[in-house]
Amino acid sequence: MTEAAFTPRVFSGIQPSGGLTLGNYLGAIKRFVEMQESGMETIYCMVDLHAITVWQDPEKLAHATRELCAGFIASGLDPEKSILFNQSQVAEHAQLAWIFNCVARMGWMQRMTQFKDKAGKNAQNASLGLFAYPALMAADILIYHATHVPVGEDQKQHLELTRDIAIKFNHDYKVDFFPITEPVIEGAATRVMSLRDGSKKMSKSDPSDASRINMTDDADAIAKKIRKAKTDPEALPSEAKGLDDRPEARNLVNIYAALSDTTVENVLRDVGGKQFSEFKPMLSELAVEKLAPISGEMARLMQDPAEIDAILHRGSDRARAIAAPILQRTYDIVGMVR
Ligand code: TYM
Repeated sequence: MTEAAFTPRVFSGIQPSGGLTLGNYLGAIKRFVEMQESGMETIYCMVDLHAITVWQDPEKLAHATRELCAGFIASGLDPEKSILFNQSQVAEHAQLAWIFNCVARMGWMQRMTQFKDKAGKNAQNASLGLFAYPALMAADILIYHATHVPVGEDQKQHLELTRDIAIKFNHDYKVDFFPITEPVIEGAATRVMSLRDGSKKMSKSDPSDASRINMTDDADAIAKKIRKAKTDPEALPSEAKGLDDRPEARNLVNIYAALSDTTVENVLRDVGGKQFSEFKPMLSELAVEKLAPISGEMARLMQDPAEIDAILHRGSDRARAIAAPILQRTYDIVGMVR
């Protein structure tokens, strides 16, 4: 099998480890919808096995998984066009991950910045799953022979590791079986920053709720968080290079550009010279206009959890139909008797 034989297929995943943020929406879900609409085959996963690499309360995990599915659909993912499912229902992910645990090297894992950040000072006390996390992520992608993976900037290193695992597997077993996946990290908001600190990523795990916009925030909460967002005293520049060394200003302009489907240059052409006292209400209005319909639809979908579960079941069946033969071929390559 040659690389040219891989048909384009998109895979990506999000952890149900808390609520969705504007970072997840702009960096990932909005891009997922664009790829769905481009007509490519698209597979999107709620990665519950990844979520439990750090402690998750069982009830909250189940709620967050359903809410994430509701967020996907409310944002424009169509369960008929895209395969939507949760990872634990398709056992092939964990099965291939074991093989990849035996391909990946300890040294590769030790270099992962996300592990270092999440494990913190006490790495000895981190779960083994947190250390092996990127091998499961490689399995998520490669169990579908996915060729394109839309993600935010923070996942770049994990996708490089996915390529390394595919290359080493193909090399060790003298096959051309796994594709060398392309990360798709594009658009104005590949790294949405905290509203309180322009040097930190907007994250669902930040202790300060004011640092992020949650997809479930109402109009008042969104407006209040943007009003209080950290800025500097200067007016907005007319050109993108004027945002150098102004991380908070850059962040708000990036968010504006991504929400309005345009470029930073176009935004600055309109708002250059304005003070934040004028720009922030414009941003609030735009954010509420784009996000309120999504949070409203999420709340509506969450009233019927059985329907969400049925969608996940159907998606899992479709996902398994692709994953099972790829796992079997992997087992044959590795020499497992069946
Ligand atoms: P997770 O759940 O942390 O984030 C999901 C997606 O949202 C993006 N993202 C952001 N983008 C821009 N700005 C931000 N502040 C921001 N915060 C989060 C992430 O880059 C990601 O695309 N390891 C993955 C989940 C995963 C996965 C996969 C992704 C598991 N298996 C296979 C792709 C393919 C993660 O923790 O994402």
